[in-house]
Amino acid sequence: MRITIDTDAKTLDADGQVLDLYSDAAFEQLSDLWVQVGWNQKYSYAFSWLGVPLIQLPEDVVRYQEVVWRLKPDLIIETGVAHGGSAILSASLLKLIGRGRVVAVDIESRPHNRARIEAHPLSGLITLIEGSSTAPEVVAAVKAEVKDAKTVLVVLDSDHSRGHVLDELEAYAPLVSVGAYIVATDGLMRDLTAAPRGKPGWDRDNPAQAALDFAARHPNFVIEQPEWVFNESTLTKTITHWPDAWLKRIR
Ligand SMILES: C[S@@+](CC[C@H](N)C(=O)[O-])C[C@H]1O[C@@H](n2cnc3c(N)ncnc32)[C@H](O)[C@@H]1O
Repeated sequence: MRITIDTDAKTLDADGQVLDLYSDAAFEQLSDLWVQVGWNQKYSYAFSWLGVPLIQLPEDVVRYQEVVWRLKPDLIIETGVAHGGSAILSASLLKLIGRGRVVAVDIESRPHNRARIEAHPLSGLITLIEGSSTAPEVVAAVKAEVKDAKTVLVVLDSDHSRGHVLDELEAYAPLVSVGAYIVATDGLMRDLTAAPRGKPGWDRDNPAQAALDFAARHPNFVIEQPEWVFNESTLTKTITHWPDAWLKRIR
């Protein structure tokens, strides 16, 4: 695509479609490109939460916070811990809510990452499980943690191949409570085939495709971007690394 921005004329020309630069449509064009270039430049690798590196786009963190605050889950299950920032983020929200726990799975719990999580003031709310998120013994260990939790939210952020995410969806979606979500993060991969760090097969092999395929097979789940809690703009499109990620359990 050829995009030409004329700041004097205040226009954005996208393949011949000339938009007012100061319009929602132009902002969406700029945002689509910004999020792809930012992914390539590892913009999401430049943040932390309460002292722990968090590998997320800040807008996704804010949207996630809106959902957690609204749902007030008893249990948040996460796959993909890395440094631990997302587990600490979830635990911090649950601490403020006043109830709830986090179960977080990673195939490799590096000693310094585990030590930092265990030394954190929120560590008491987090159970770490080491192993592949789709290994039967790991799925069983996570299930054993559900106990009497009524509202359960699941976030998948481990191996982002379509096959692995589909297996995670099959394993963990039954644990999600009605009205809550299982989130297949990082589907932006499908738009990154042209990015220098992207890969050609990602247009099909990505978490968004897994979520779409899962929803097609499981009518008790729909893909539904959570509504914004506050919006005094005319904008409606979330700027996200998580397109088609939010699978809501409707029954
Ligand atoms: C993108 S990082 C997670 C980022 C983290 N959720 C955050 O927000 O900061 C992906 C993590 O998934 C883990 N991982 C990769 N394959 C996995 C698998 N099969 N099961 C569980 N974890 C896996 C990696 O070890 C890595 O730590």
